[in-house]
Amino acid sequence: MTVRRLADNQDIKFKFDNQDLKFLNSLLENYPKDKKQSAVVPSLFYAQRKAGGWLPEKAILAVSDFLDMPKIRVLEIATFYSMFNLQPSGDHFVQVCGTTPCWLRGAENIKKACKDYIGQEREVSKDGLCWIEVECLGACVNAPMIQINDDYYEDLDYESTVKILKDIKNKKNIIKGSQIGRKSSEPLERD
Ligand code: FES
Repeated sequence: MTVRRLADNQDIKFKFDNQDLKFLNSLLENYPKDKKQSAVVPSLFYAQRKAGGWLPEKAILAVSDFLDMPKIRVLEIATFYSMFNLQPSGDHFVQVCGTTPCWLRGAENIKKACKDYIGQEREVSKDGLCWIEVECLGACVNAPMIQINDDYYEDLDYESTVKILKDIKNKKNIIKGSQIGRKSSEPLERD
C-alpha cells in the first residue's frame, strides 16, 4: 500500500475567497442541512483544483473550517483517496493505468515512455509534467490508456505516448481519445 503523506514543502498561500465560498455553499444544497460534512469530497476536489492540482495542508484546513469538521477527519479522507494529490502534480498531470487489461495491452511501454520523456514517477519535470501509475480508469476497452488532467488518451503505444508528451511540451494541439482513429469504443477492424 502506498504511504500517503503531506508534502514536505508547504510554502503556499491558500484561502477561499467569496466566489469560492459561494460555490462551496451551493454544494451544500445537495445534502441535508444538518449533514454538511457530507460535502467533504467535492469540497476537497474544489480545493485541489484551486490549489493547482494538489492539496497543501492549508487547503485541507480551509475545508475543515468551512465544513466545521475536525482537521483530522478531513485529513483522513484526503490521505485515503488516491485521486487527492498530496504532492504538487505539475501543470500536466499524467495518470497511467497499470491495471490488468491495460497491462496486457502494453501499459509497461507507456510507463517507459513517461520515464524516458518525463522522468521518475511523481517528480515534476521542468516542463511541468508529472506522471504516476494508477488503477483502472474505466476505459479498458481502448487499453492501454492515460489520463492527462481531465482528458483521456487511448489506444496508445510507446511512440504515440511520446508524441503526446512532446506535443504538450511544444504547446501543440493534441487529439483526445483514441490515437488510432477509433470512434468511441467501436470494435477494431480485422484483416
Ligand atoms: S484497466 Fe486500464 S482503463 Fe481499465
